This record gives sequence, structure tokens and C-alpha cells, in this order.
Amino acid sequence: MLGISLPSQFEYRNGVLHVEGVSALKIARECGTPVYVYSTTAIAERFAGLEAGLSEVDHLICYALKANSNQSILKLLNGLGAGFDAVSGGEYARAIAAGAPGQKIVFSGVGKTESEMRSALEGGIRQFNVESEPELLLLNGLAASMDAKAPVAIRINPDIDAETHQKISTGMAENKFGVPIRRARHIYSRAAELPNIDIVGIDVHIGSQLQNLEPFRKAFSLIAELAAELRADGHAIKRIDLGGGLGIAYNSREETPICPEDYCEAIIETVGHLGCEIEIEPGRYIVGDAGILLSNVLYLKDGADRRFLVVDAAMNDLMRPAIYDAYHEIIPVSEPGPDQSPLSVDVVGPVCESSDTFAKQRLLPAIGAGDTVAFLSAGSYGSSMASEYNTRALVPEVLVNGEKYAVIRKRPTIKEIIDRDIVPAWL
Ligand code: LLP
Repeated sequence: MLGISLPSQFEYRNGVLHVEGVSALKIARECGTPVYVYSTTAIAERFAGLEAGLSEVDHLICYALKANSNQSILKLLNGLGAGFDAVSGGEYARAIAAGAPGQKIVFSGVGKTESEMRSALEGGIRQFNVESEPELLLLNGLAASMDAKAPVAIRINPDIDAETHQKISTGMAENKFGVPIRRARHIYSRAAELPNIDIVGIDVHIGSQLQNLEPFRKAFSLIAELAAELRADGHAIKRIDLGGGLGIAYNSREETPICPEDYCEAIIETVGHLGCEIEIEPGRYIVGDAGILLSNVLYLKDGADRRFLVVDAAMNDLMRPAIYDAYHEIIPVSEPGPDQSPLSVDVVGPVCESSDTFAKQRLLPAIGAGDTVAFLSAGSYGSSMASEYNTRALVPEVLVNGEKYAVIRKRPTIKEIIDRDIVPAWL
């Protein structure tokens, strides 16, 4: 009726939006708003879909923690057999805390510190995705001092346009990521000379929220060619890490996301013949559509030439619209009647800057103060990017499973926030 497609775990029942078997209104009332709500089944289904698509090749799905690193979500994915992609010592520690074995954690990122590398070497690591020669040398020296060998894949920058938002595009020559593909053979031969480096594979990640398969295909094919060259040079290439990036439809009226089966097929077609273990690092695809942000409407306010719907969620809670002009579908939690005429509104939060705008001139069913709305596709890069700007407490998170739900992160009190500051004795 709203003309948008919702994941099947989110549907109106008796006029109220439900997440699996639980009313979103009930969660909003009991936990307060804003609140993130995730569906266990939606996460598990997305994960299972990728597992099925890659079943004919040896593979490991390394969930990118940055998309949503709540312990419960990591535990859920760990239980399903996922590996993890961490990009900081903090994320590595989160994966370990959720029960992941070090052997299933890859460590990516362009600026790993020595102490981060050390904790991963101590705790166990599947591979470091190394992004530069200086990083390689530092890792080698550190591993030598620990009498260890560091498993390494080199991240290659293939200079391919991922055709996505420029702020989340990572595979072009101008981006800081990876080693230029033309220098790949050189850096692999350097790596082979280092006694405490164990070359295990090749890594690539060209960007996030990809909507077209072609850039993936191009990048994966280049990596397959490179693997053959590196093997001819005598390197043992046993793993290929293809990164993340599979997009979702934030605006299901206008966007057609890549079909995950096609993505998996493209992987098998381009690199399947190498006999390598294939790793992928999806984040958004697994949790994005599995989460919503519930928010209450504070005011319907008339401006000079437009109406503002002021909600109690703000840019600090869901940063994507402010940073990337990202679109998130907004729907009322109480199902609108068939004869309601839509209103054109700017949906804004309480934070004191104009970038605190979730939507401009959006046609929404008639909604007023006291109503609850849901921001869709908010499971990825929502809570994980949130801040306490304007001293707004981090939004709590709720996980639904069938008829039950649990608070998986509580809202801190303002006192807890204040108490983190330290006032020196001289003040
Ligand atoms: N692997 C690496 C090395 C990455 O840098 C990323 C994302 C991923 C995997 C996971 O990508 P995904 O499958 O989620 O697309 N904050 C932005 C997205 C930033 C993505 C950064 N890297 C957003 O809200 O759209």
C-alpha cells in the first residue's frame, strides 16, 4: 500500500508495524524512542543466502563489523559460522569477545597501529590485509620480535570505479586504499623476502553500496589474472578476499539492487577456477535491511514555505543522510488508511544544524505529533556510526526473535555520559 517493498520480517499486522512477531509500537513504548530494532531472522536469512550462493566453492563470509558491531549481532553471526572483518583493535576485540576464533578474523585497514597488530598476533588472526609496503615492514619486524609469522594478503587497488557515492568508493587510483595493481608483483616479491611474513592471498575491496555488478566483475577478473601471475612468480596464493560492497535498495521504488545470486555467480565465474578459498566481507547486505530506527514525532511545524516534521531522532543517531545525502525510507508505525492524502514534509531532528535533515520535501502519509515513524534499512552504519553530539545519549538497540525481544544495548543515562569526563584537581 505504501508502494515500497519491506523485508518480510517487517509488516503491518492489524494496522501496526511488526518486526517479526513483535509490535514496533510496543517496543517504542517500552524502550522509549529513538530506538534501533533488528530482526534476527532477517539477518540469518541474508547470511544464509550468501552461504548458499557460494556453496560450490570453498569460502568464508567475513562479516564487516563496522556495519554493526553489537555483541549480540556478532554472536548471532558467529553461531551461523561467519568469519569477521575487523578494521581496528577495537573491532578485533569485539569479535573475540563474541566468541569468534582468531582464525576466522581478517584484519583490514590502511592505518593499523603496531599495538593493534600485536594484539591480533597474540590473540590469533586469519590474515592481515596489508595496504602498503611500510605496513608490511612494520608487521614483519613486529612478528620477528614475537617469534611469529604473520599471515598476509596484500590489498590491491585495481583503479576501478565502483560507480557508488564518492565518499564510499575505495578502488580508484586517487583513493588511499591498497597497493596500485601495477606495483603488486614488486610488493609480493618484497613480502616473499621477509622471513616473518607468510603470504596467503590477495585482497581487494572497491567500495560500498554497489548497485552494478560490472565493477565487481572487472575487479574480480583483474584479481584472477594477478593471482595467475603471482603464482607464476612462485607465490602461494591460496585465498582471495573480495571485500564487501554488495548494495541494498534504500529507495525500493527507484533502486534495483544487485541480485545476491548474480553476485555469487560472478564470483564463481571470475575467481572460482583458481581453486582458492574465497573470502567476502559483506556488512551492509547482511544487516542493513534487517534493522529500523523508531522515532517519535515531536512537532509538525509550519515554516515560511514548507512543513517540517520534527522527530526525536537526529543526525547523531543516524548520520547517513547528513554525511552522504543518503535516502532512508520513512514510514508511519501505524498503518495509514487508504484515503489519506500524503503531505510533503522535511523530516528533521532536534540537533542545532541544518544538516540534521533526514528527508527534504518527502511525501508522507499524514503524520502528526505523538506518532511513531520508522526509518528503514537502518541496520547497517546506523548505530555503529552514531555519536553523542549535542549530548544526546546513544540510541539503545533491540533484537527481535519471533515473538520475543531483548534490549541488546541500553540507552546510557545523561549522568553516565557526564561522568566520563574528568575534571582536573586545579579546576
Ligand atoms: N571490507 C572493507 C575493507 C571495507 O572498507 C568495507 C566498508 C566493507 C568490507 C564492508 O562494506 P559493505 O559490504 O558494508 O558495503 N558508512 C558508509 C559505508 C562505509 C563503508 C566502508 N567500508 C555508509 O553508511 O554508507
